[in-house]
Amino acid sequence: MTSLPKYPAPSDGCLSDEMLADYQETGVLILEDYVAREQCQKLRAHALKLVQAFDPSQVRHVFSTTDQNQLGDEYFETSGDKIRFFLEKDAFDDAGMLRQDKEHSLNKMGHAMHDLDPVFDAFSRTPELAATVKSLGIADPAILQSMYIFKPPRIGSEVVCHQDSTYLYTEPESCIGFWFALEDATLENGCMQFIPGGHKSGLKELNYRGADGKLAYETLNNTPWVQGSELPAEARSGTLVIFDGRAPHLSGPNLSARSRHAYTLHVIDQSCHYPAENWLQRGSDLPLRGFSA
Ligand code: FE2
Repeated sequence: MTSLPKYPAPSDGCLSDEMLADYQETGVLILEDYVAREQCQKLRAHALKLVQAFDPSQVRHVFSTTDQNQLGDEYFETSGDKIRFFLEKDAFDDAGMLRQDKEHSLNKMGHAMHDLDPVFDAFSRTPELAATVKSLGIADPAILQSMYIFKPPRIGSEVVCHQDSTYLYTEPESCIGFWFALEDATLENGCMQFIPGGHKSGLKELNYRGADGKLAYETLNNTPWVQGSELPAEARSGTLVIFDGRAPHLSGPNLSARSRHAYTLHVIDQSCHYPAENWLQRGSDLPLRGFSA
């Protein structure tokens, strides 16, 4: 295989047998022009409005996949039913000042915009996406989390190879990722990359809250990922990348002058068990919802 499966988006969201076969085989499916560019621009403009209300001098929390200090960060760990902002690890200079403006200092915003913000809610719950999720065979879908990824110019950090079911685990596993390119994503600005077929080898690690209340990792399979086997998921604005919760993926740093904004949703099947040991927990005042209003 030299490239990941890519199709024009079906207008009604229903996936064809050919698309589903490719998805089962590679763990990834790229659908171009799934969302109109103007919808992407609207969501981007709305996200930037939320950023304006965020004061980085009050909340200095960094998100990093290479720094184990993430574990034990209460601001992160209690963000499953909130809208919170996470900075890039290189956002600050030696004097403790932001190197770039706020918009270009953020790693991500998460993790419940889809339930707390009407604009994100509407973007997340379209009839087309409901049809796509149904095509994928999720019996009783719920949108578990949303993330707005900024991947800012020059300091957008790399994301090391991982599987999302490590963090969003159900029994049996049911997590599927939906990644929307809000700006053009290329290798140059750190697009997603996947190891095709890697989802077939099972889950390698489980992130869970132990009896001591702290998050930890359990190794399920310590075979390393095959280096160099990943393929880029370059994506124009409006593209949807669907990926299995076991699909191994990564992205390089953004050293370019262009940002790489994306919006992601993770959907689980509510008929599966959602362990209390998962990091992401919600208060009873914000129950999970599927795709109906
Ligand atoms: Fe991921």
